[in-house]
Amino acid sequence: MLEGPDGPVVVVGVRGGLGHAVAGRLRARGHGVVGVARRASPGVDVVADLTDRRALAAVLADTRPSAVVVAAGVSPAECDSDPETARRVTVDAVLDLYDAADAVGCRTLVVPSTSAVYGDARRTPADETAPPAPGSRYAELKLAAEEGVAARLAAGGGVRPVALRIFNAWGPGFRRSLVTRLLASTPEAPVALAGLDSFVRDYVHGDDVAALVAAVVEAGDELPGVVNVGSGEAVSNRGLVAALGVRHELHWVEAEPVASWSCADVSLARRVLGFAPRGVADAVAADAR
Ligand SMILES: NC(=O)c1ccc[n+]([C@@H]2O[C@H](COP(=O)([O-])OP(=O)(O)OC[C@H]3O[C@@H](n4cnc5c(N)ncnc54)[C@H](OP(=O)(O)O)[C@@H]3O)[C@@H](O)[C@H]2O)c1
Repeated sequence: MLEGPDGPVVVVGVRGGLGHAVAGRLRARGHGVVGVARRASPGVDVVADLTDRRALAAVLADTRPSAVVVAAGVSPAECDSDPETARRVTVDAVLDLYDAADAVGCRTLVVPSTSAVYGDARRTPADETAPPAPGSRYAELKLAAEEGVAARLAAGGGVRPVALRIFNAWGPGFRRSLVTRLLASTPEAPVALAGLDSFVRDYVHGDDVAALVAAVVEAGDELPGVVNVGSGEAVSNRGLVAALGVRHELHWVEAEPVASWSCADVSLARRVLGFAPRGVADAVAADAR
């Protein structure tokens, strides 16, 4: 196992789609993983809430990790229904974790940010220099977390924070993804698609996101503070049902069109971290094998 002086990787939120994928990838690469979640289940080593500052500090003091990956978070809907909890989980807890990680000499903190910080009205893939245009409370809180950890580093913190602006992750465990909903659709419960051509997203497979996280954890000292994590492929709803429909029976209806466009420029991740994400069609074919 890649432990000893380097220490294991603490993954907080290990029961979620991202946490599960990341923990699996890290273990497969020989890392020791300490899985943290707020409920016990297989793969959970410590039961603790992300907002429980003392409990998380104790986990880090006990395990002396080389990296901490925050894979927990609340949904955009939860940010609107309970803004206070959302701020505690999304911003305050992440900053507390930065401080706890710094106190034990941890090297890297991976923070889950979102493509939503760019807004969704662009017509060209966004790179990390695109001006933020958060259009929701969820996006605002994610941006505040990015800025908070960057400020900690600028103030002399010893942990390098890497905020991942994740686009639309899908695959096993990603319950909320449109892809997951389409694959689970039935004639009795078709998925409503908000326009076939006007609604465009960048779908990145969870295994590819996990590979990127592993690359961040294993990288040398120089790392950008913000990295896009998408496939780089702009997919309309028409393109999505075409790609998935090759191997799966889908049931959907066209609803009132929504004009919304979002896609990543992943040049930075490719260059700095060797990221090689797949498009939807390739990932669907690989999953079927
Ligand atoms: N999936 C995407 O496309 C995407 C895109 C951009 C950003 N992100 C971000 O990536 C992170 C993971 O997303 P995901 O897709 O894996 O979501 P997910 O499957 O819903 O997992 C989120 C996990 O967070 C846990 N959690 C929530 N509040 C917590 C708390 N107070 N303490 C401890 N754990 C808590 C949940 O625990 P329970 O299992 O107990 O409910 C759940 O396991 C989130 O921060 C999300 O905002 C995801």
